[in-house]
Amino acid sequence: MLPRLKVPAYVMLVLVIPLVLVSAAAVAHRDGPTPTPFPGSATDTILRGRYLVMSHACADCHGGFNNPANKGWMAGETGPEMAFLIGPCLVTPGAQPCFHTHPRNLTPDNETGLGRFTERQIFNALRYGVRPEDTPDVTITSTTPGEGNFPLHPHYLAPPMPWPSWRYMPDADLWAIAAYLKRGLKPVHNLVTESEGPPDFWANTYKDQLNIGPNPPAPFPTANEVGGGDH
Ligand code: HEC
Repeated sequence: MLPRLKVPAYVMLVLVIPLVLVSAAAVAHRDGPTPTPFPGSATDTILRGRYLVMSHACADCHGGFNNPANKGWMAGETGPEMAFLIGPCLVTPGAQPCFHTHPRNLTPDNETGLGRFTERQIFNALRYGVRPEDTPDVTITSTTPGEGNFPLHPHYLAPPMPWPSWRYMPDADLWAIAAYLKRGLKPVHNLVTESEGPPDFWANTYKDQLNIGPNPPAPFPTANEVGGGDH
């Protein structure tokens, strides 16, 4: 049996985000994705995607840890020890609300994995946090609900899926990850339990830019950073 996940600090930050909306800050607009493939052959793209998946700890949650040869690699939750508790119950047992969320099967199985979705839907999941199953296969050009193909009532991916961090990756890298998941993995049939969540599918949690940070980010250098590195 694999050891219980060690949840990285940045994930803990996501986990303790209160489920209440503290401010309805304006959501920054962002240019939509243009399919910019990773330069090189299809194999180069898939290998780039594999490297990105391995270096971003995707499999710590989605199965297989650091070795693509491991059983269950990216096949999603295979036991209760892989599920997450989200909400105040994480700190105080029994406190409400308390949601169980479940890392999904990312292999290209048609029934239980990403086989049903296009690479663009996977791209949109990583860039915008929208769940592929409930988001049309379209190019999204805005992060404002109802504009630029961004769903009016987005069904966001449940925490602790770290899309608020992954969305800063360049387009070509996100396309490479999508290519690896769809074309570089063998399908594994593994039906993962649906994640629980609030009725707004985490919209209040995620539309607060104070929680997830604007994209594009604040110009460099902010008050915490030092410019002039060339001197
Ligand atoms: C800290 C744990 C964690 C990490 C790390 C993580 N994920 Fe996830 N991921 C989840 C959870 C939990 C869900 C389920 C969300 C839901 O049910 O709404 C999910 C869902 C997804 C989905 C949506 C699948 C579907 O069928 O709806 C995709 C795509 C995805 N993750 C890709 C990735 C990729 C690619 C990486 C690495 C770059 C990654 N994840 C890293 C926890 C994680």
